Amino acid sequence: MIGVGDLRAFQEDVDLVRGLGEAPDVAVVLGSGLDPVVEALTDRVDVPYSELRGLSVTGPLVGHSGRLSMGWSGGVRVMAFRGRLHCYQGVSAFQASYPARLAFAAGARTFIATNAAGSVSPDLPAGTIMGISDHINLLGDNPLVGWPGPDGGNPFVPMGEAYDPSLLARARQSAADEGVQFAEGVYVAVLGPSYETPAESRALAGIGADAVGMSTVPEVIVARALGMRVLGLSLITNVAGGVALSHSEVLETGASSAAAFTRLLSAILANL
Ligand code: HPA
Repeated sequence: MIGVGDLRAFQEDVDLVRGLGEAPDVAVVLGSGLDPVVEALTDRVDVPYSELRGLSVTGPLVGHSGRLSMGWSGGVRVMAFRGRLHCYQGVSAFQASYPARLAFAAGARTFIATNAAGSVSPDLPAGTIMGISDHINLLGDNPLVGWPGPDGGNPFVPMGEAYDPSLLARARQSAADEGVQFAEGVYVAVLGPSYETPAESRALAGIGADAVGMSTVPEVIVARALGMRVLGLSLITNVAGGVALSHSEVLETGASSAAAFTRLLSAILANL
């Protein structure tokens, strides 16, 4: 885990990633249960997170394999983060945003964040893939706190079109081409790790959210601060606020929808 001022440790990770070969075009962060996307990459090289200073606190959380993978999807060089840090693990939003900083330093200029999320909207049944059109940050933290920005510069980053409309349109088109159930909506990030009460789920719908999760927002804020183009995809694994909701239910839906998710992501990458 790396603090805001620890530039030497950051540089060590950057050097390691640069040593893996050609610079990535796009970085993808894979949420719970979405690892199979990596199997579709060719000429893949894997680095365990234990070898990366900024990601090594990731414990053996079920559903995340804790590896960075570099490979090709057609002619696109992909850097895939299999697992991420979450604020509920006790790290700051700055530390949780690490994939975006590392990806940018490695050369990626497109950032795709994926996650598992609960639905707070009747229009989003489990199994739907939601293209994120916007987000609400309820983490109580922001990854730009204490960070002066890439040039020692401005932390007051506009978030007006954080999710690139043309990438979202491409995802929509790819979903139609692949016959994947797709919707668009607003993602709200909460701290967790407990799931929402029914009252909280209603409240989140009331403030404009469609899906709720515990990740993604720190990475996206930093990706935007660095000027990367961002696409966000949520796999709706459950209805939020359920009585018997469990992490294994989230992983099971992730597993059963992983094939559709992989198809969609491969199609998006092919059309970048
Ligand atoms: N709530 C918050 N995070 C989640 C959920 C949920 O219902 N499902 C998957 N991640």
